[in-house]
Amino acid sequence: MQQTALAFGSQRDDDVDAIHQATALYTVEAECNALLDDLTWPASGGMLLDPGAGSGAMLVAAIKRLQPARNDPQALAERVRGYEFHPGAAEAARRNIAGYLIEAGWAGPAATAAAARIVETRDFLLSPVPVGEASAAFSNPPWLRYAGLPPAYRADFEAAVPAHARADLMHAYMERMAQVVRPGGQIGAILSDRFLFNEGAAALRARLGASFAVTAIRRLDASSAFFRPKTRRKGTAPRVHPVAIVLSSGANGRHLAAEPFRFEGDAPPPGVALGDLARIQIAPWIGPDGIFSVRNRAPFPGANLVPIVEPEDIDPHHDRIGPVRRWAFVTHPETEPPESVLRHLEGQLERMPPRGRRRVRWVPPESFAHRLPLKEPAILVPRIAKTLRAIPLPPGVVPTGHNLVVVSGERPEVVSGWLRHPLVQAQALQHAPRLEGGYLSLTATFVRALIVPHDAFGR
Ligand SMILES: C[S@@+](CC[C@H](N)C(=O)[O-])C[C@H]1O[C@@H](n2cnc3c(N)ncnc32)[C@H](O)[C@@H]1O
Repeated sequence: MQQTALAFGSQRDDDVDAIHQATALYTVEAECNALLDDLTWPASGGMLLDPGAGSGAMLVAAIKRLQPARNDPQALAERVRGYEFHPGAAEAARRNIAGYLIEAGWAGPAATAAAARIVETRDFLLSPVPVGEASAAFSNPPWLRYAGLPPAYRADFEAAVPAHARADLMHAYMERMAQVVRPGGQIGAILSDRFLFNEGAAALRARLGASFAVTAIRRLDASSAFFRPKTRRKGTAPRVHPVAIVLSSGANGRHLAAEPFRFEGDAPPPGVALGDLARIQIAPWIGPDGIFSVRNRAPFPGANLVPIVEPEDIDPHHDRIGPVRRWAFVTHPETEPPESVLRHLEGQLERMPPRGRRRVRWVPPESFAHRLPLKEPAILVPRIAKTLRAIPLPPGVVPTGHNLVVVSGERPEVVSGWLRHPLVQAQALQHAPRLEGGYLSLTATFVRALIVPHDAFGR
């Protein structure tokens, strides 16, 4: 029994050593500071935790930022903590912290005591999570794919980490860090950009996105952001496409969801505003069903009736308009409509809410005479949608309601080409105000401001 325990112990030491060897790439001070700049800690109060502390680079930067009162190990350990499962690295972190504190004027014993309290030799993923204890989780977590984990470690990892966070140690770290921070807290982390796009991280992104928003993100230069521990000159995988990201709980920021998170092109690409290339108008509101719109045209001889399209008429799978269900009266304020129309309106107008009543009783709340329907085909953009969509609008059809935006004055296939351009789609995903359930609010004003990149012309 004892032998098994011993064998297990040494196996685990080997595994920790192997994982450390594969993941220990430390962060240069300038990058630690840049990431701290994006956190509300230390002003927010509470504790900052680096749960993969390595030799303590991020902890030392955090302590410098905090400027703690001298010789008070307990007070300092309440504000800054670190975990590192590799005993040698944990020892190096303690040495570096104590060294800095002594430089900052602490007495040696107090500095050593503080470092011992701050850095725990502990496996962050396999030990119980200190739920809600930190106001900031601040880490350059280990990056290592599931397939690269030593088999014995992998078994425990599987038992401790939920399926949606198992693909990489980095994912497991994000999952746990989200639990460690208290409501209103932040995660400041250095991740691979594949975390933002890969399907394998989609479920994790969605879970994180339910409580956190992205409040800062930028790419790092992998050739200058990291350094290797002296003892590990070889064997550490290079870091490809690192990004520094801050997730803030309960804050306004960019939405993180299962869909790929695009942050490239935050500044709009060089190009021309859609509003300068086409006419963009919001569809008119004509009041409740059955007043200015009817399902049966037959009783209205001589009336100018045009087919209507509303968001419900658009086939969500094919972005096509379905069969006509209703027609609207086209009336001009200065011309009285036929008797049949007047009688119908007389009988129905009492249902019109006050905001929709007009002095000339045959005019709908938002008159569209002279501007709609269009004689040429155009494009409709649903205002509430998960992506920017382009629906062909045939001539002679009136879109109604504020949930449709009409783009006209240019050939529809050209306009849909512009709207489908990846950089135009990215602008919508990044900048459109969010509604519940992953929907965007794509108002006429927003659609006018979309920049069509130069390379979208002349294709
Ligand atoms: C990429 S290094 C970063 C170190 C430090 N935060 C920095 O930026 O300089 C990640 C560290 O996490 C440690 N680590 C990996 N898995 C761990 C785990 N499950 N628990 C605690 N530490 C772990 C590794 O040994 C390594 O030192």
